Formats: sequence, structure tokens, C-alpha cells
Amino acid sequence: MPKATIDDLEVGGRRVLLRVDFNVPMRDGAIVDDLRIREALPTIRTLSERGARTIVVAHLGRPKGKVDESLTLRPIAQHLAASLGAGVRFAGDVGGEESQLMAAQIGIGEVGMLENVRFEPGEERNDPEFARRLAELADVYVDDAFGAAHRAHASTEGVAHLLPAVAGYLMAKELDALSSVLNNPMRPLVAIVGGAKISTKVAVVEHLLDRVDVLWIGGAMACTFYRAEGVTTGRSLVEEEEIPTARRLLDIARHTRGRLELPSDVVVTDEIKTESSTAVTRWDSIPDSGIVVDIGPESCERIAADVASAGTVVWNGPLGIYEIEAFAQGTRRVARALAGTTAYTVVGGGDLAAAVQDAGVADKIDHISTGGGATIEYLEGRTLPGVAVLMERSGTAA
Ligand code: 3PG
Repeated sequence: MPKATIDDLEVGGRRVLLRVDFNVPMRDGAIVDDLRIREALPTIRTLSERGARTIVVAHLGRPKGKVDESLTLRPIAQHLAASLGAGVRFAGDVGGEESQLMAAQIGIGEVGMLENVRFEPGEERNDPEFARRLAELADVYVDDAFGAAHRAHASTEGVAHLLPAVAGYLMAKELDALSSVLNNPMRPLVAIVGGAKISTKVAVVEHLLDRVDVLWIGGAMACTFYRAEGVTTGRSLVEEEEIPTARRLLDIARHTRGRLELPSDVVVTDEIKTESSTAVTRWDSIPDSGIVVDIGPESCERIAADVASAGTVVWNGPLGIYEIEAFAQGTRRVARALAGTTAYTVVGGGDLAAAVQDAGVADKIDHISTGGGATIEYLEGRTLPGVAVLMERSGTAA
């Protein structure tokens, strides 16, 4: 990993501003899935063991520069304290009096956390003055917020210009896993791209087609491809304006290294409801009243066969409406196929990370990315501003 990490920096006794992505799903004030918090624990524990004075910065939701009590980080700080088995101080502002007091008082090995950084209008604007206020709280900056690395905000980018800036272990792990998929994968390299909308995945598909050996399309976006092939898709979700894009991708696939595969059978229903009845149909005989909600068993088997003989598998986006049990079977079966292969497997992020956990196979996947948009942008081949700004390993870590 070319980026410097906390192993390249002396942190003992120093104040460390640690950016994490604790933007976790919440319901009624309770954390639904704490993967992002758990994954940051090795960095936080190591910093404490090495005697750092750690000040954690994070965001929750999109409060757009205004204080929104429903998005306070207090419950997250409590959860972090319970996970660490140690106290976590909390400052009710970001860069204001409470934060400054925390920065002045925090002891060696202690951990403190600031309020939601997006309560500050300067955060998303990457305001230099706000970045300076953040930088004044610490001596060094550590970024473990891979999930927010595609945002050039004050706490993910601006502040990193003002302090020695290195990656935490989670950031390093994410970059190692994803770069090994794009840059030196064991072959065959199989990509599975799902999700509802092709518009959010066009750049990923385009970037991957030249690198992979096989690229499977799943999820509702397969319907936009079916329409591009001249097939009717009943009442399924289709992005009409993206049909030409799908046609273009099918065309590109004829000349690239990667074989583009669409599901040959699908699960259809008349109504998207928990108790609706379903049927399996061929991709080119979807009834007029049908809505495609999952990939079919034959497609699952074909994907599983590719996964079984793969050297590397990367999967982004669910293959059906996995929130509804009856429509989650395709995603589950493919998750189990990944769990059973000897290939190096990378799954990312957001919804699919939760689906893999629900399928009970999370511990059999080599890397589950904590990134949502960040993982997609990485797979698109884009430079993530929060990564670009970190020091190279050969850099001059103070
Ligand atoms: C995420 O959940 O993907 C990250 O925390 C980024 O959140 P954002 O899309 O609100 O910037």
C-alpha cells in the first residue's frame, strides 16, 4: 500500500484527529448495523495503545450545515465506548469551545469524539477556515473514513493539507483489497454488478469491462439491458432514458476483454409486497403484468459456476429486492456461492454488505467494503480526494 499509515508515524503523546465513517443505519435512535464502527476499532485501539490522544471526527446523515438533534453523534459515541470497553469523551460542537477544551484536556491513550461534523456549514464546502479550526485541535491527522473518501470536505480533504496525514488500518485494508481487484487480480476475474438503476453503475460497468473476464448484471437494472435488446419487461423498473446507454454498453462488451452476461431467467411478481406470489420466467418472456424482482435459479447457477472457477470475484449491488424475503433468494444464493469459492472475494458496500451478513456468510468473504459511493467511485477508476491527499509511504512523516 503506497500510502503512509499509522505504522509510519509517531503518535505517542500526540493529539490525533481521526476521521472515521460512522454514518451507520439507525432506526428509532438505535444502530441497526455497526459494521463501520467495528471495522474502525483496530485503528482506535492501536492509537490508544501507542499513547495517542485520539479525537474522533465523523458525520451522520445529511444535516446540510445545520444542527439537527436527530442526527447527534452521542449514541454513536456511547456505542463506540461500549465496543472499546473504555470511556469516550464527547464534545457537543466541532472546533468550538467544547472541542478546544477536549483537545486541551484529553489524556494519553484516551479517546474523545466530536459532534456531527456536518452540523458545520464549512464542512461540505471544504471551507479553509473551518479546516484550520479542525487542524488546530490536533498534531496529526489519520483518515480511516474510506466510506467518505469520495467527498472533498473539510474533515476528509481540507484538514489533511494542514497536518501530517496518514491512513488508518481500515483505509489501508480497503485500498489494498480494491486495488488488488483492479490492478493485479488472480484470474479469471468475475464482476457482479447489481442494483436498481443502471444510471448509477454505468461508469463502473464501463471501467470494469476492459479488466474483467466476465461481468454479470443483476438487479432491476438488468431490465434496462433487456429493453436495449428489444425485449419487453412488463411493469418492471426501467430507466427509459438509459436504454441507449445500455445499448452502448452491450456494444462495447462485444469488443472488450470481459464477457457481459445478463440473467437468463428472472423472478416476477404482480405486486411488490411481502406476501405476493412469484413465478420464474425466461428473460424474454416476461408477462405484461410482471415486475422483475430477482434473478432466477438458472442464472444463480450460472453465476455460481463462474464464481467457482474464478480467481477473484468483486460484487457490488444486490441482485433483487433483497429487503423482501421472497425476492432475496438470488442475492442469498450468490452470497453462498462466494462463501464457497477459493477465489479472493470482495463485496461492497452499503446494502450488499448488510445482505451478505443476513445470509450468514460475512465471515467467509475476504473483504466486505464499508464504502457505498466511495467503493463505486473507486471501481469506476476515479481518484478519491480523501485518499489522494494522504502522504505517500516514502513521504516525510513527522
Ligand atoms: C456513505 O454512507 O456512503 C458515506 O458516509 C458518505 O455519505 P454521503 O453520501 O452522505 O456523503
